[in-house]
Amino acid sequence: MPTVASEFEIFLVSPPGLEAVLCDEVATKGFVDPKAVTGGVVVRGGWPEVWRANLEIRGATRVLARIGAFHAGHLAQLDKLARKFPWGETLRPDVPVKVEVTSKKSRIYHAGAAAQRIETAIREELGALISPDAEVCIMARFEDNLCTISIDTSGESLHKRGYKEAVAKAPMRETMASLFLRQCGYDGHETVVDPMCGSGTFVIEAAEIAAKLNPGRSRRFAFEQLTSFDAVAWKRLRESSQGIKPALHFFGSDRDAGAIRMSRANAERAGVSDFTVFQNHAVSNITPPPGPPGLVIVNPPYGTRIGDKKPLVTLYAALGKTLLTRFSGWRVGLITTDTSLAKATGLPFSPPGRSVSHGGLNALLFRTERLK
Ligand SMILES: C[S@@+](CC[C@H](N)C(=O)[O-])C[C@H]1O[C@@H](n2cnc3c(N)ncnc32)[C@H](O)[C@@H]1O
Repeated sequence: MPTVASEFEIFLVSPPGLEAVLCDEVATKGFVDPKAVTGGVVVRGGWPEVWRANLEIRGATRVLARIGAFHAGHLAQLDKLARKFPWGETLRPDVPVKVEVTSKKSRIYHAGAAAQRIETAIREELGALISPDAEVCIMARFEDNLCTISIDTSGESLHKRGYKEAVAKAPMRETMASLFLRQCGYDGHETVVDPMCGSGTFVIEAAEIAAKLNPGRSRRFAFEQLTSFDAVAWKRLRESSQGIKPALHFFGSDRDAGAIRMSRANAERAGVSDFTVFQNHAVSNITPPPGPPGLVIVNPPYGTRIGDKKPLVTLYAALGKTLLTRFSGWRVGLITTDTSLAKATGLPFSPPGRSVSHGGLNALLFRTERLK
């Protein structure tokens, strides 16, 4: 069995539907020749690139390192090859592991039986404990009888930046919020307003981008438990960027006082409270902050129950009217699951792009040019 190469395929998992936007971010951050594929973005690199992707990339849900592959047509063959796999080059015998298997168009189709063979190989050949609660996860994917072995280097999903203890109803995931901001052309050089900010996700993401703060700066990662981990190099990488204090401010408001308390607490923990402002009022009371126009980004309530729609039409219409009368020169990005609700705003939206799966629903991003 060949040893794990010093350079391998790194797969950045994307929120479904946002692969091209994630690819743009990965390219902007200096990764070589990224390619968008279904479900994510592929780059080549070694462990330093894996650490940097986890630390710096805002839009990826997790980062997988593809550490090997072999053909296996039946379980006895899998058993033999899994035992020969150089697990010790990546996994530590003292760190528990779990194994997840998927299978497509392969003679080995029973994921449970395949997982059991790989678990046994890791336990008996390496001596590591197999535990369903392990932070380190081996992912084996069978496709056309080729078994690709990846390791999830992130651990907890990367939308967990480490600052959000308080979560409002139906929060937007940070990974997705950052990609929607990018799709709206936001690059950290303009003011951002979210008039229905909930727990403050868009405002805090926008503020962090402007402050050049890495999304993974205050959390831990599964790769810290692998043999390849170099604590000194990681510390140096993590400390190489300390952020800046942006000249701009970022604004959120919500009619729910509890949401505003959460946003302020989350901004405090994220270290962006000096340049974020959260106010408790209804959308019809918003006014543009002083300074040049920027971006309004908002995901209003969607309403999934029958009978919800009428008050939502009124709410979306009030949002649109307020923006059209007071936010001349601003661009708007609105995320909703319902095209007719977007239309109810009366805002001059371009046709939306691909739908994005959000909390089991299909969300669409509607965008305007600068409002007249
Ligand atoms: C889908 S949530 C937004 C979630 C937010 N993006 C986050 O990540 O936490 C919609 C928000 O709209 C707020 N809202 C509903 N009607 C409002 C109104 N008339 N004025 C201001 N906020 C309103 C709700 O309180 C809720 O926090």
